[in-house]
Amino acid sequence: MIKKNAPAIIVTGIILILAAAVIGLLFYIKNLAPQTRGIQPLVEVALMEPDSSKWGQNFPNQYATYLMTATNNTRTTYGGSEPFSKLEADPRLLTLFGGYSFSIEYNEERGHANALTDVRAIARVNETTPGTCYSCKSSNNPSLWDEMGMAAYDATLFSELGAHITNPIGCANCHDAETMALVVTNPALEAGLEAQGLDWTTFSRQQMRTVVCANCHVEYYFEGDGKFLTFPWANGTNIDNIADYYEEDGFTDWTHPDSGTAMVKMQHPEYEMYTSDSTHYMAGVACADCHMPYTRDGSAKFSSHNVMSPLLNAEAACGACHTDVEYVTGRVAVIQALSYKTLIATEDALVSCIEAIKAAKAAGASDAALAEARALHREAQLRWDFVAAENSMGFHNPEEVLRTLALATDMARQAEISAMQAMP
Ligand code: HEC
Ligand code: HEC
Ligand code: HEC
Ligand code: HEC
Repeated sequence: MIKKNAPAIIVTGIILILAAAVIGLLFYIKNLAPQTRGIQPLVEVALMEPDSSKWGQNFPNQYATYLMTATNNTRTTYGGSEPFSKLEADPRLLTLFGGYSFSIEYNEERGHANALTDVRAIARVNETTPGTCYSCKSSNNPSLWDEMGMAAYDATLFSELGAHITNPIGCANCHDAETMALVVTNPALEAGLEAQGLDWTTFSRQQMRTVVCANCHVEYYFEGDGKFLTFPWANGTNIDNIADYYEEDGFTDWTHPDSGTAMVKMQHPEYEMYTSDSTHYMAGVACADCHMPYTRDGSAKFSSHNVMSPLLNAEAACGACHTDVEYVTGRVAVIQALSYKTLIATEDALVSCIEAIKAAKAAGASDAALAEARALHREAQLRWDFVAAENSMGFHNPEEVLRTLALATDMARQAEISAMQAMP
């Protein structure tokens, strides 16, 4: 019986194995990024080629959409691509950043292709500015870091390094030219992840669609005299972890001239804010889902490289997951308006706290008597700034934004009371 059916069993077995292989292959192809499927490169591109136009010959759709970031100039209520002055929009910032370069010029950010022009034009840059400031502005970086090492790069002055920096942000900041896979290109990001026991080479494709933005959209500081680019992530990446890190490290960006407080300035912590348990992050949504949605051009389907405010492109950016796009963009308006109102209330509390410490100092209060008020001022302002310097006006993580601002306002008011009590 068994013997008689053996050939049939073998044939069935082979058919099943072949079917499994075909299904497996189809799944594999489906999971490949759309435009890398079976496309033969037209030109060879060096591994860390800084010139995006060379990559563009192989991938014209991604290149054409990337180029659009140069000319976007539409403003949204709280964001968009028009480089308006944040200082004119909100003069409280002049008090909060008193004595620091951000009170000289501080503008709304624009598209990736403008990064180099904009960093060179900003009045905050001077003869002493370290080269580290180029770290998130140019596609020359991956090859420069590879050739000279990041320590030497960071120790070079901005004015000297400039000769080697010829391209704005481009393909080499996010992709490996050989495989077109997304990669961590910034050694400081690799180190920041390692400090938490994480290894990006084990991350899934969906994780990489968020982590690749953390090459730049993060809080960082310059460690030591060599201005070594460092992410303050050893304790974790939410604002309380970061505040603890700076407390232990004793790092200071500048001393506030009115209050005498040793301050920390926050820089665009989009990655940290978004990944602090936001609704979208916990649901597995990546930065690229909203900021680089799939687009069609004829039969080609590709990720739009026209990275910008999703509100200017909501059908594509939100419509892939939400059926009622008008409703969800309406929610953005409500969340942003509430976040803005709460942010301003925190600023008012901070301005009062600075004035109270200044008055106590003028009346002769000692440094010892003002120590508690200053410690609270530092902690309050870096929390406020974590929200203010984050570019979504609350949308990336509404709950965390309101929690952080509530804490910051409370600390600022406590600082004010402490300063009043320190009056001789
Ligand atoms: C669920 C969709 C969504 C996800 C996911 C998302 N964002 Fe956003 N992002 C938005 C919206 C909406 C805004 C607000 C835009 C505005 O106010 O015009 C925004 C604003 C921004 C801005 C400022 C844009 C501007 O026009 O000023 C930056 C920068 C940014 N996001 C980066 C990121 C990064 C980096 C990540 C991942 C860590 C991320 N976003 C994840 C929807 C998203
Ligand atoms: C800021 C980071 C970033 C930059 C800069 C960038 N890309 Fe991408 N690219 C992405 C992300 C994110 C994806 C989506 C990858 C995925 O889904 O696996 C992607 C996907 C791709 C793909 C796969 C197909 C697709 O469209 O999804 C190609 C090809 C590509 N990019 C080419 C380029 C070229 C050419 C440049 C330079 C002109 C470039 N990229 C610049 C982040 C970037
Ligand atoms: C190599 C550094 C770098 C990487 C990687 C990077 N960005 Fe940016 N991004 C910047 C800089 C710098 C600016 C501001 C440029 C300017 O104002 O000239 C910016 C601006 C933006 C803006 C505002 C654009 C506008 O028109 O207002 C958005 C949105 C944004 N980035 C999202 C992302 C997302 C999403 C990712 C990951 C897919 C990403 N970025 C990866 C450095 C980077
Ligand atoms: C990749 C899928 C995806 C994309 C793209 C996306 N969302 Fe969502 N969104 C979700 C998921 C999942 C939830 C969780 C609740 C749910 O299941 O509806 C959510 C929830 C929300 C909520 C409710 C938030 C809350 O705390 O309950 C709002 C508001 C929202 N999204 C707005 C947007 C906007 C605006 C965009 C475009 C800028 C966008 N989403 C893009 C998947 C997405």
